[in-house]
Order: sequence, then structure tokens, then C-alpha cells
Amino acid sequence: MPEVTRTTLQGLKQKGEKITMLTCYDATFAHTASRAGVEVLLVGDSLGMVLQGHDSTLPVSVADMAYHTACVKRGNQGAMILTDLPFMAYATLPQALENCAALMRAGAHMVKLEGGAWLAETVSRLADNGIPACVHLGLTPQSVNLFGGYKVQGRGEAQAQRLRDDAEALERAGAAMLLLECVPSELASEISLAAQVPVIGIGAGSGTDGQVLVMHDMLGLSLSGRMPKFVKNFMAGQDSLHGAFAAYVSAVKKREFPSDEHGFSA
Ligand code: KIV
Ligand code: NA
Repeated sequence: MPEVTRTTLQGLKQKGEKITMLTCYDATFAHTASRAGVEVLLVGDSLGMVLQGHDSTLPVSVADMAYHTACVKRGNQGAMILTDLPFMAYATLPQALENCAALMRAGAHMVKLEGGAWLAETVSRLADNGIPACVHLGLTPQSVNLFGGYKVQGRGEAQAQRLRDDAEALERAGAAMLLLECVPSELASEISLAAQVPVIGIGAGSGTDGQVLVMHDMLGLSLSGRMPKFVKNFMAGQDSLHGAFAAYVSAVKKREFPSDEHGFSA
């Protein structure tokens, strides 16, 4: 795969071709997923749950994220590497700048932060310093204690309008990408159409510019035995990891995944 850059992703959005993203935490999986055509490898702080066995993403450190980013970088064959800033790593502007520097030095091409319009200044200052940012909106797992559980966000007109306003403010501030988690499919489509930058969805229906899943989920691996409704098992019927990743890429590109059953209503 030729190197995937921000320009590549912008071009895919313009063409109406869906963008494929999976989480990835080490060199071998990075090699396999990038060779199977996954365009963006997300070094997600979900590693706190799927690798470290915690019950939330809150215990993950910047050092953990930098370590896994460096591992992914060594195996990656041309995909973009997007790395999460973990819990409380961007509460102040100086923290955000310093922690992003560590992640970019480790091999990230873009960083992801969870939040809303309040991140506008941070996103803008990161862009000033050459760091593209993706903002994660909707169900932001670092705020699970504030939400009182993992719940669909953006239901009801007031919440929906707030999400539209957040997306607009962040794009104006210079966000390079947006990611919507567990929001009603129709609202996610609307936000994706309105945005000039790519909008990636997870549990956000088929109308976004691209899709992401946690790799362990789409391989059918679960510590709890439960699977979120927006997940599909792509290992089923495949005899290799390469096959599972390629099946995911193909299903997203052909708009076969996600289908209506994987989304949420308003
Ligand atoms: O950490 C992660 O895996 C994520 C995805 C769920 C989008 O942020
Ligand atoms: Na994350």
C-alpha cells in the first residue's frame, strides 16, 4: 500500500470511498493489517482493556501509548498511525503539547483526543505545531464515570444539536478528522455530510466517511463474553488473520458493513 497520509484520506472522502481503520497495538498485527489494506491503524487507549485487562481506559499512561505506537511503527507497511492521548494527558495546553510530542516522536502521524468544542484551542495549537488532531465525539470512554456507563450519545434534539455544534467548532479550529462513537446513525450521516474533513464511525451507522472497530472485537475475542451490537465477527469463515482483516476492508469498501442492525436509532 502506498503511504497513507492526511491527503489520501481527504481524497477518499472526496471520491466517496469509505475509509478503513482498525485498532492495532503491536508490530505483527500492524504488518498483517496494513498488508490487508487497512488504511489507518489506531493505537487506541482501548489497549487498557484488551491488552492490560483493566475495566476502563482510565489507567493507561502516555508511556504505554508511546510504547505501543513504536511497536506498531516497526511493523507498519504504509498505513497511517493514529494514536490516542490517554485520560488526563490533555487537560491543559502545556500537557497536550508535551504528550503529543512524545507520541509523534514514537511514530504517530496523527493524535486523537476525546471531547467537544472545549478542545478547539488545543486542536488549533497542535495544528500550529504541525500535529494533526482527530477529535473523538459521542460516547467518549474516558468520560464513562461522568456518563454513568457506556451509553449511546446524541439522542434527543438538544444533545444532537450540541454534537453538531461541537463538530463544526472543532473543524473550524483545524481538526484533521472526527470520530463518532455510538451516536444515532442519521445524526452521524448528517455530521459527515456537513464536515469537510473525514468522519469515522463506530456504532454510528453506514453514513460516515469510514469505519473503525477494536481489532479484538472484530476477531471475536472478548474478555467479558459480551459483544457490542455494532460489532461483526470477521474471523468467521476465514482461516487467517490476513483473511479476517481483508474481509473487513472489503465489507466496508463495498458498504456491506455496517448494516442497519449495527446502528442506533435517534
Ligand atoms: O481506543 C479505541 O479503541 C478507540 C476506538 C473505540 C475508536 O478509541
Ligand atoms: Na480510545
